[in-house]
Amino acid sequence: MRAAINTEYGPPEVVKLMEVEKPVPGEHEVLVKIHVTTVNRTDCGFRSAEYFISRFFSGLFKPKFNTLGNEFAGEIEATGSAVTLFKSGDRVFGYNDIRFGAHAEYMLMAEDGVITNIPDGLSYEEAAPLTEGGHYALCDIRAARVKSGQNIMVYGASGAIGSAAVQLVKYFGATVTAVCDTRNVEIVKSLGADIVIDYTVQDYTKTGQLFDFVFDAVGKSSFGQCKPILREKGIYISTELGKNSENIFFALTTPVTGGKRVLFPLPSINKKDIVFLKELVESGKYKPVIDRRYPLEQIVEAYRYVETGQKTGNVVITVA
Ligand SMILES: NC(=O)c1ccc[n+]([C@@H]2O[C@H](COP(=O)([O-])OP(=O)(O)OC[C@H]3O[C@@H](n4cnc5c(N)ncnc54)[C@H](OP(=O)(O)O)[C@@H]3O)[C@@H](O)[C@H]2O)c1
Repeated sequence: MRAAINTEYGPPEVVKLMEVEKPVPGEHEVLVKIHVTTVNRTDCGFRSAEYFISRFFSGLFKPKFNTLGNEFAGEIEATGSAVTLFKSGDRVFGYNDIRFGAHAEYMLMAEDGVITNIPDGLSYEEAAPLTEGGHYALCDIRAARVKSGQNIMVYGASGAIGSAAVQLVKYFGATVTAVCDTRNVEIVKSLGADIVIDYTVQDYTKTGQLFDFVFDAVGKSSFGQCKPILREKGIYISTELGKNSENIFFALTTPVTGGKRVLFPLPSINKKDIVFLKELVESGKYKPVIDRRYPLEQIVEAYRYVETGQKTGNVVITVA
């Protein structure tokens, strides 16, 4: 089968398209024929190993697993002898950031892993990008205990995490002020944001509002900048560590000192979470934003684009 392989850490060019052996499912595994995958910031982080800490998971000197790709949508081609949840021909989507492997024609998934059936009427292209940004946003929204009646700011509302966050915060019943640049204002409005601030023309810290939760989905702000716009017990979460990893320091100290707090939840996703996201899609409360599409043959270009930090929502890769 064809697979995008990287045997070393580095820039997009370390990824090469190669012929490798098609995997065979174990007893409790399914073999998924990949139709659509994505290139996202998680792939970029693990490919470049820019943050050294990621090497503790993916291999200290070189990658343990040579094919990246965490999001996928495809069809079950074969099942292990003990599999009961899926059968050949099922349309499925899912997420795997432990072994990755979706940048290929086939990948293996444990049947009890983060994999579920694609809702009727949803295409592979729409299903593939539902989980990466969606689960990061969900973890942070749950950590901040977002509830009905709260006032929330989503900064960086046009990215994969931000575009999911706007929709999920609306689902939990809060009011959303979303911050993005001019070209994304209409898209972000269409996701349900109550107020959209174009950061190129308005200072997001001078809206005259106070927020229960400021969620910086692109890691470009700081707690110092956002503290004045938080309510008395307001919460700040960023998807990045911040200058000198200050968000980790604040996450350890601000809960002790009381008042406005920084949280730094560790993201996770399980079967229940993907089913939750699927149900939101079925009820029309959550949809992926898709920016560019590339064939697997152009995956290096896809990486280059994603690394500009300017994609709107998600970049999908067509495999079959
Ligand atoms: N290390 C990892 O494994 C990992 C994994 C996932 C995510 N993350 C981090 O999480 C963050 C978000 O990821 P993502 O995939 O959601 O990002 P993304 O999709 O790449 O976000 C890009 C969007 O953010 C907007 N943006 C860029 N600079 C901005 C600014 N100063 N203010 C407001 N918006 C801005 C861009 O539009 P404009 O430039 O036009 O404004 C673009 O639409 C990133 O910092 C990423 O590194 C890290």
